[in-house]
Amino acid sequence: MTSGDSTSGQKYLLATFGCQMNEYDSNLVGAMLEKRGMEITENPDEANLFVVNTCSIRGGAEDKAYARVAALRYHKRHRPGVRIAVIGCMAQNHGEKIPVALEHVDYVVGPDGYGELEGMIFGEDTRNGLGNGNGAQVWTAQNDFENYEGMMARLDGSTSAHITIMRGCNKRCTYCIVPTVRGVERSRSAAEVIAETRHIVSQGVREICLLGQTVNSYRDDGPDGKVSFADLLRRLQEVDGLRRIRFTSPHPRHFDSDTIRAIAECDKVCNHVHMPLQSGSNSLLKKMRRQYTRERYLEIVEELRATLPGVAITTDIIAGFVGETEEDFEDTLSLMRAVRFDHAYMFSYSPREGTPSFDEVETLSAADKQLRLERVIELQMTHTEERLDALVGRTEEILIESPSSRDATEWVGKTGDFKKVIVPYAPGVEKGALVNARIRERRGLTLRGIVEPLILQG
Ligand code: 5AD
Ligand code: SF4
Repeated sequence: MTSGDSTSGQKYLLATFGCQMNEYDSNLVGAMLEKRGMEITENPDEANLFVVNTCSIRGGAEDKAYARVAALRYHKRHRPGVRIAVIGCMAQNHGEKIPVALEHVDYVVGPDGYGELEGMIFGEDTRNGLGNGNGAQVWTAQNDFENYEGMMARLDGSTSAHITIMRGCNKRCTYCIVPTVRGVERSRSAAEVIAETRHIVSQGVREICLLGQTVNSYRDDGPDGKVSFADLLRRLQEVDGLRRIRFTSPHPRHFDSDTIRAIAECDKVCNHVHMPLQSGSNSLLKKMRRQYTRERYLEIVEELRATLPGVAITTDIIAGFVGETEEDFEDTLSLMRAVRFDHAYMFSYSPREGTPSFDEVETLSAADKQLRLERVIELQMTHTEERLDALVGRTEEILIESPSSRDATEWVGKTGDFKKVIVPYAPGVEKGALVNARIRERRGLTLRGIVEPLILQG
């Protein structure tokens, strides 16, 4: 099939596992399918094509993706024209093994092959709609250049959108599968990032979140001169109609003073930094090859807090890495107490085949790792609550996102420092509005506020 005619009206369903970068990539694939006339659906019974975007970061993520794809057998059996694409990091990681384990899968495509996926689905040799379905097609070739130039992801109607500004990772953290599955680091051109931002802002987006595995090592050395991450923030600050800029995840190794200055100078850049810590123990940081020490991490936190008053700092922590002693673990807890993170994503170490630490003999049982994870979570909870409580009684600017799913008279918004606030409806409260809200109370992990009358908002 060479034209979109026989696929127009056909429906695709996107299921995304893993990180925000996968969300962006799913929408990149969605844009490509829509260009061919397909429409998105959330109803599996009417989907002609299922696209499952998968994650490999921990064993659990892969198990979930396998289970989801296995469950699609039912649709394939009952509607023979249905096609199934498994894409993303697990597709890259397991490649040919996927259609062996899951014989109903048609396409397996890693993160660098989404252009190829288009050819597979709409290739010359296809009949009657989507692809010919004769055996699985697998694409796991990797690039060392940016190959999605000129492509923009579909928007899902949200006020906030992700934009991938760099792909891959040049770090070699010993626990991490990402450099294997996502390849070497490469940045998009600043001109493309700005063009995409302008376009999505013209479509109603108010907030962007810049994505990259080590987003602050972004560097465009293109013909228009060198653009660092800090320069990119300053350029995006100039985009009319854009109200907020976020980014994730910076690597502590690349957190320079110029970036901190740029965050301070650009009022659109939110007062929130997500900076993965992983461990507070110097000996474990070394074993993880993180390229910073506990002291350097604390120094960055100090500089952030001195330059950006009230900044929210969030993090990622791994409990129970290979060889983690009780003393190492206490170092993580003591660093958490010293920083008092606003929020943390916390994981127990999951050995990943193909990573340097996979071959090391684990010193902790699964139960021990779980216990340590629980201790980290318990401590973090007290800090999260403390940081939320600090906002009670204050007036904060919130970006209204959507009506609350529980009560249509209430709306959900976020503060610049990434805290969810529920407000009752008031004039001016609508999707995409920036309003000032007085925070009245914390219930669980949610703040509740009341919008201040517009007249006070100038
Ligand atoms: N086991 C547990 N957590 C991991 N992460 C990355 N690899 C592993 C692993 N093998 C966590 C890190 C990273 C986040 C995205 O996932 O904390 O920052
Ligand atoms: Fe998962 Fe990492 Fe791939 Fe994101 S980049 S989908 S977190 S493995």
